[in-house]
Amino acid sequence: DSHLSPSVAKELIATAQALVGSPGKGIYATDESPEAIALLLAPSEDSDEHGNLSVSENENLERRKAWREAAYEAVPNEHVSGVILYSDTLIDHKLGTILSNKGIVVGVRANGELAPLPSSPFEFIVQGLDDLLSRLQAARAAGARFSKWRVPIACTSVALGLPSQLSLDIQAETLATYAAISQQAGLVPIVEPDVEFSADADLARSVEVHEKVIGKIYSRCREYGVLLEGSVIKPSYPQPGLKHPSRQNTTAKEIALATASVISRSVPAAVAGVAFLSGGLPTPVAISYLSAVNNLVNSSSSNSPFSRLPPLTFSYGRAIQGKALEHWSKGEKDSMKRAIQEACQACSKAARGE
Ligand code: 13P
Repeated sequence: DSHLSPSVAKELIATAQALVGSPGKGIYATDESPEAIALLLAPSEDSDEHGNLSVSENENLERRKAWREAAYEAVPNEHVSGVILYSDTLIDHKLGTILSNKGIVVGVRANGELAPLPSSPFEFIVQGLDDLLSRLQAARAAGARFSKWRVPIACTSVALGLPSQLSLDIQAETLATYAAISQQAGLVPIVEPDVEFSADADLARSVEVHEKVIGKIYSRCREYGVLLEGSVIKPSYPQPGLKHPSRQNTTAKEIALATASVISRSVPAAVAGVAFLSGGLPTPVAISYLSAVNNLVNSSSSNSPFSRLPPLTFSYGRAIQGKALEHWSKGEKDSMKRAIQEACQACSKAARGE
């Protein structure tokens, strides 16, 4: 009953399965903007106290190409099914072939930059829908088979009142529009609602916001005729905010129960899989959450809703490359590559509940 042709639908489903259907395999996100990666790669003497860089654009470009080439050479295809690229990495530098040559599916970041929501200055709309179809068609021609679109969702206590109803409506509408256009271009969409944890929400409030936004996304996806079997969701883990006192003593087991509950209540069973973002959590923490939620699912009895969840894996950026970046900054290329391989292996084990 899809508006997509049977051959496109079949290919989308096969790609989604290649991404999230093999136990223990997940995604490595390397789609930082040129500005963001330049800051990560710059030695501290190159930047001032405001984070402004004193190196030339050309030098930045060479640094980022060298880093990404080394990262793609290192990424192990037994643990990683897909890698997300920024469009210039794919289209101008053609580094996706390093990945596709070893059977890793290439993806592209589809979302543009943020713009403040005029009526609510702490919330944002995500730009990039206008020229999306042509951008994604170009990405497909350059080898991409999936895409991702991140939206940030503010999350505070009820007293502070975020997210606003308006921002939830806009973000869900944006993600559903994006997902439909991505499938139209022949790319599996990864919808990424990133519920932030910088504020004062407790765990129950974070769960409530996750369920609300994810529920809305799929209600809009239905209207747009998105083929859920050919799609993936990349959510955050529900968790207390950094400014809530319970943050310190919340365990990975509690996060796992909250996470499995959110997924079971709000992600339709037809969705191919769930690939969590790490959101800046320290690597061991991001790994412990993924392991705990898979452990919970694996040990659930067959009559528990948790036994029927789609596959739960990783789509980590910072949690995979944090240590590798430290080695890179000291010129230790072999150790950098080893660090990426070790992080991917640890994520893979966690995706199996180990
Ligand atoms: P992190 O895992 O570093 O949050 O990155 C994932 C991502 O793609 C953010 O959009």
